[in-house]
Amino acid sequence: QALDGFIAGMPKTELHLHIEGTLEPELMFALAQRNQVALPYASVEDLRAAYNFSDLQSFLDLYYAGANVLRTEQDFYDMTAAYIARAQADNVRHAEIFFDPQTHTERGIPIATVFAGIAGALRDARRRDGFGSAMIMSFLRHLSEEDAFATLEAALPLRDQYEDLWLGIGLDSSERGNPPEKFERVYARCRELGFRLVAHAGEEGPAAYVIGALDVLHVERIDHGVRSEEDPALMQRLAQQRTPLTVCPLSNLKLCVVKDMAEHNIARLLDAGLAVTVNSDDPAYFGGYMTANYHAIARSLDLSRAQVLQLARNGIEACFLSEEDKSILM
Ligand code: HPA
Ligand code: ZN
Repeated sequence: QALDGFIAGMPKTELHLHIEGTLEPELMFALAQRNQVALPYASVEDLRAAYNFSDLQSFLDLYYAGANVLRTEQDFYDMTAAYIARAQADNVRHAEIFFDPQTHTERGIPIATVFAGIAGALRDARRRDGFGSAMIMSFLRHLSEEDAFATLEAALPLRDQYEDLWLGIGLDSSERGNPPEKFERVYARCRELGFRLVAHAGEEGPAAYVIGALDVLHVERIDHGVRSEEDPALMQRLAQQRTPLTVCPLSNLKLCVVKDMAEHNIARLLDAGLAVTVNSDDPAYFGGYMTANYHAIARSLDLSRAQVLQLARNGIEACFLSEEDKSILM
């Protein structure tokens, strides 16, 4: 296809990426060996064969189990460096990366180890290649708000040391039954502290969760948000305010949010004037990085070159860079 080369070469931003979701089976096995951790799979092939998900929770169970091989600063560094290499191969110029400290502190890993490993790789890539990045610390919504507050308190002493990278706060994990309202107070605190705010909403949860994220948490971007389409008034509001949605096509397919890529609503959202962007979410688990996500929708939805370009432009508009730095990406 003629558009494929154009898509591959196009400069990109990535705004919805869980660093723990970039852990490829090969690296997972290597880290398991390095750290003497047993994996319940005989081989890389066995592990990949288990990546057959029926919904969000069936993925999360494997995703949290896989993160168990991450123990040292070097492990977090190596995982992040591997992601950056894949992103650069796809011409990603700027990535805003989620990380889930609670997945690690629950296992006794110090939060400082998590920050140091991820930030170390991001800073080395910035220095070496001008690779742009930010870190978004995400709370696990299946845990309590009290637990989120404790994580925030544990991380705040690190803020000065990582002020060049740690810009934002996010909310992820099991969506249904864990509405945004559960985290109203901790988000209010993060807002007072001057963090940029985002939250997953409207992936498996209803459009009402998107409204809650906007009105109660005061987020400036919605992660996923594809179920916003079920509420016409919300659609109008999102278009009018240009509230970015960080959409993840291959993730939606793998987690059965859509049955077939040909049924994905990203082109309809785009044509309705929403600031939709393309992202890879957990690329090691969902079968593709940024270029693969663009290719999948371009083919299945027969996107035009203008639509592809608009998606990439939206990714620049929606990122947390200053207006001056955004103009460099244009
Ligand atoms: N949704 C919710 N939680 C997650 C996701 C997601 O797509 N990826 C990693 N944690
Ligand atoms: Zn996500």
